[in-house]
Amino acid sequence: MDKIVVKGGRRLEGRVRIGGAKNAVLPVMAACLLTRGVSVIRNVPRLKDVVSMASVLEELGVECGWEGDTVTIDSSRLSRHEAPYELVRKMRASIYVLGPLLASEGKARVSLPGGCAWGPRPVDLHIRAMRELGATVDIDHGYIESEARRLEGGPITFSAPSVGATANTMMAASRAAGRTVISNAAREPEIVALADFLNLMGARVSGAGTDAITIDGVDEMSPAEFRIIPDRIETATYMVAGAITAGQVEIVDCVPEHVESVALKLAQAGVAVEAAGDSILVKGKKALESVDVVTAPYPGFPTDMQAQFMALMTTARGMSTISETVFRDRFTHVPELRRLGADIKLDGSTAQVGYVEKLSGAPVMATDLRASAALVLAGLVAEGETHISRVYHIDRGYEAIEEKLRGLGADIERMPE
Ligand code: UD1
Repeated sequence: MDKIVVKGGRRLEGRVRIGGAKNAVLPVMAACLLTRGVSVIRNVPRLKDVVSMASVLEELGVECGWEGDTVTIDSSRLSRHEAPYELVRKMRASIYVLGPLLASEGKARVSLPGGCAWGPRPVDLHIRAMRELGATVDIDHGYIESEARRLEGGPITFSAPSVGATANTMMAASRAAGRTVISNAAREPEIVALADFLNLMGARVSGAGTDAITIDGVDEMSPAEFRIIPDRIETATYMVAGAITAGQVEIVDCVPEHVESVALKLAQAGVAVEAAGDSILVKGKKALESVDVVTAPYPGFPTDMQAQFMALMTTARGMSTISETVFRDRFTHVPELRRLGADIKLDGSTAQVGYVEKLSGAPVMATDLRASAALVLAGLVAEGETHISRVYHIDRGYEAIEEKLRGLGADIERMPE
């Protein structure tokens, strides 16, 4: 196992390029199961989660090839319909194969993903939606066992705007008979990207990006070529990196519109954020003001940025209240940030982040993907060395994070533990 060692105190300066969005590429890869043939996906980030999704597809008889940032997916020999526990436990998004397998193969057996480091993550909305499309779904020995002769479209209303359930339903409904209308659908940019890919494959999806998505089922779909959108969470993480070090960072190949909620909070804290075309210039300053944050589904402040923003708030003047409404227990980074000297009180799903003049380096442990990013960010300003262990979490979602931060002037390296 590797650890990351950060020596704090360097002001970040320079330009960083953003890669393709993890949360867009995963459903797009799964959508290739809806047809037979070779699809080509470009701007794919080198991430562990992408490798995990490729393993799930290979388990089904699909061939995945990777050259540069292009992944080819050949589903011609798709022959199996099971996503086993050993693979699903590595990555919850493996459940994305459920909808497309049901639609194209008429059956799917997918291990239940189980919880996360910070608490339960149910998949009831995915299951209910498949049932509403006419599939039989049973839970047996930790597996979702489902079958359908032909899925039938219809109205589906989600009690919460789940990204995963919306994506799974869109994929399944693309090849169902008749029309499906999803109400209270997730509006994330990754949902729009998936709809674009499905439409390139011959599906008829409209309304993605709003809370009502209509899918008119088609009998056949065909392979397609697609370019993955920039990763908005990676974008926002580097915005915070610029802000926390009072640096000046230009973030290129991103979509400023996708990170507006984060830009707004940074601006309120006193950071200058200038967007132009596909780049964002962040100019931090010493002594930021504290701001309050409430996470919410898109276009609200992303839960995937809550931990990193909390790291920023630890040295901002005043008291910041950070409330988590999407994953109410997502606070495993709090004890680790405290080890660096942060003043954080946790009450249910709300954290009160007080001001400390400086953080100081300490050994800490990465507990999940975004929590690890928060610790790296805190390490950038902590006095002395911060040793972050279990960094495999960070490789699930941040491509070459040490190289990118080093390119901006950070003193950061990876070493064996
Ligand atoms: C996706 C993202 C993840 C992000 C999250 C919220 C991917 C691969 N992952 O996760 O990075 O943090 O969106 O933006 O894209 N829920 C249920 N039942 C379900 C499904 C969800 O109750 O069947 C609840 C969840 O507990 C949560 C809320 O709905 O409170 C939103 O979760 P959801 O949008 O489904 O998250 P994921 O798709 O798992």
